[in-house]
Amino acid sequence: MRPPDTAGRRHDLTFIAAEREARLLGLSGPVSRVWTYTDDPFGVTRIRVGDTLSARLINRLQEHTSIHWHGIRVPNSQDGVQYLTQPPVNPGETFTYEFTPPDTGTFFFHPHCNETGQVGRGLAGILIVEGDEQEPSHADIVLANKDWRLAEDGSWLAFDTPEGAGRAGTFGTIRSVNGVQAFSADVPAHGDIRLRILNLDATRMIEVGVEGAEAYVIATDGNPIAPFPLRSWRLGAAMRLDVLVRAPKPGQSFQVLDFFSAEPWPLATLKAVESNLRSRPFVPKPLFASHVPRADLKAAERLTFSFSAATGAAGFVQAIAQDDPLGRVLLDSLCVQDATFWAINKASWPNASHRQMPPPLTMLEAGRSYVFELMNATPHPHPIHLHGHTFEVLSASRSDVPRFLADTVLLHPKERIEIAFVAERGDWMFHCHILEHLEFGMMGYVRVV
Ligand code: C2O
Ligand code: CU
Repeated sequence: MRPPDTAGRRHDLTFIAAEREARLLGLSGPVSRVWTYTDDPFGVTRIRVGDTLSARLINRLQEHTSIHWHGIRVPNSQDGVQYLTQPPVNPGETFTYEFTPPDTGTFFFHPHCNETGQVGRGLAGILIVEGDEQEPSHADIVLANKDWRLAEDGSWLAFDTPEGAGRAGTFGTIRSVNGVQAFSADVPAHGDIRLRILNLDATRMIEVGVEGAEAYVIATDGNPIAPFPLRSWRLGAAMRLDVLVRAPKPGQSFQVLDFFSAEPWPLATLKAVESNLRSRPFVPKPLFASHVPRADLKAAERLTFSFSAATGAAGFVQAIAQDDPLGRVLLDSLCVQDATFWAINKASWPNASHRQMPPPLTMLEAGRSYVFELMNATPHPHPIHLHGHTFEVLSASRSDVPRFLADTVLLHPKERIEIAFVAERGDWMFHCHILEHLEFGMMGYVRVV
């Protein structure tokens, strides 16, 4: 079923990447110098499917930036990767993105060089594409999980460390949801509450569960799925989960918890307040099905990608062919790190001693179906993200459902996962979303022609 046709409004928005002040250590705590797109740190933009977004990025930072629209199937030219799909947006410059998101869902956006430093200081925004509900929910609440690397005086600690970058990543010193340490909100009693849970952390994996109310998973990375009861669901960095919860009676609360912590960590406490809704059976309606093209699994070409530590040789990658326009591109210091710890199929993203754009990890044919087999040869989980595509996860050992749609998939140690998709033309980044892992080598791109 399709969502009802919409008028197709146009939204002209301006995002000013700039340093602003925020009290992340509590309202009476010290001020921190955050980098954000709007005055509201986790500003949420809501549009309807069929609407066109025109987003003007103005860079008031001291270094270049861009906006990558994570999980949205945009044309390659709007994908926001410095050097690969657009020139860096230098300090003082402006760049306007324009696209019509083809899918409903819960998305976010962020820059693509110095992600540890820029996203680490808060540079990210949330984009919601509405129009998927057959039955309107009674409340729609965004929960954005993100730790901060802050000293007690509110100043920043180093965003990457050799110990973290070479292992599971460097964790923040304080946790937050929507920028606060104990997020709570009121919801209508007996209402159907839609929770849009985003893991925007650089590193941390969370395992989401709900206590005190019945909860169903309704979308993975924003993609509708036939509702099933939520037991717990792991979200690596950049992953999202939409959950529908039936609120309890007035005066009662329910909690959204992270079960991956030593002690379950409350992501949110939601209190039911008087409403005109009555108690009734809870049978969540599925969201309108997505329009994501599905791979033809019989005809699909299969390719294997191994995610591993860098070997000595992998630190040095070949340069792209000189007759390729990207062959003349030299990556600047914001887009490479000094060291290399990680690799995909033994190739690593370049480091400071080798700044030429690497060749694509593989060449694909536009319109063709592919199955990527992802293998984890490390002792750490890696949330693996492919730009510009929504793929079907065909097999994942730690999932409650046989198949689901995603743009980022959590690859556990020793795990082998298959993802399937139809290739779209362009150069698309393919990387782990633990920010230190991508910056220190676990990143490349595929070329679809
Ligand atoms: Cu959130 Cu390269 O992406
Ligand atoms: Cu990783």
